[in-house]
Amino acid sequence: MTFSIHILTLFPEFFDGPLKASLTGKAIERGHFDVQITNIRDFATDKHNKCDDLPYGGGAGMVMKPEPLVGALEKAREQQPKAPRILLTPQGERFDQHIARELAEGPGMILTCGRYEGVDQRVRDHWIDREISIGDFVLTGGEPAAMVLLDATTRLLPGVLGNEESIADESFGEDDEMLEYPQYTRPRSFRGHEVPEVLLSGHHARIEEWRRNKARERTRARRPDLLDDQE
Ligand code: ADE
Repeated sequence: MTFSIHILTLFPEFFDGPLKASLTGKAIERGHFDVQITNIRDFATDKHNKCDDLPYGGGAGMVMKPEPLVGALEKAREQQPKAPRILLTPQGERFDQHIARELAEGPGMILTCGRYEGVDQRVRDHWIDREISIGDFVLTGGEPAAMVLLDATTRLLPGVLGNEESIADESFGEDDEMLEYPQYTRPRSFRGHEVPEVLLSGHHARIEEWRRNKARERTRARRPDLLDDQE
């Protein structure tokens, strides 16, 4: 069964570039997963194709209307009854590598991109399984966040990276939560800055130890919260 991602959005063109680019584009071409984009506006029920309206109770901004969104969500659900229906919103649970792994193990996902000041609460209560935020900042819409989920999740699917080892080694890998050690490549000397001697030694045990120490040093300096659970 192919991992299937269905994106519901008012701005389908947002995804034209990112889905063609680099690894993601190649992985789709090779059939490692598929992506379907639905324009929520196609499910508008009035003659002006209206998808937003004024908030009941007053206040600034517009709210996404329930009819087009639920129409799009129902169609996506028919095609993928088992995929979680996710709303991208700054009020959701914070996305991280654990969630990416959890989603990658499932059948796919239905990603709903919020716009305007919000989404009618009844849609969130009855047609959405999970709300996810990519961080404590506010985007103009859920589209960049949906792309972040897609990217972080699909690179974990078997065969997409073609190098399973690099996943285990990287920051937030399977074993422990540490930032990655510093990497160097040729040339050995660049504008007076040298590659650390130990990496040229060919001594694998010493290299491993150096990398472990550097990873810990960097994690302690930049993200001490990651070490709190382990020490
Ligand atoms: N939509 C607007 N801001 C967002 C965020 N930080 N995460 C997910 N979706 C969003």
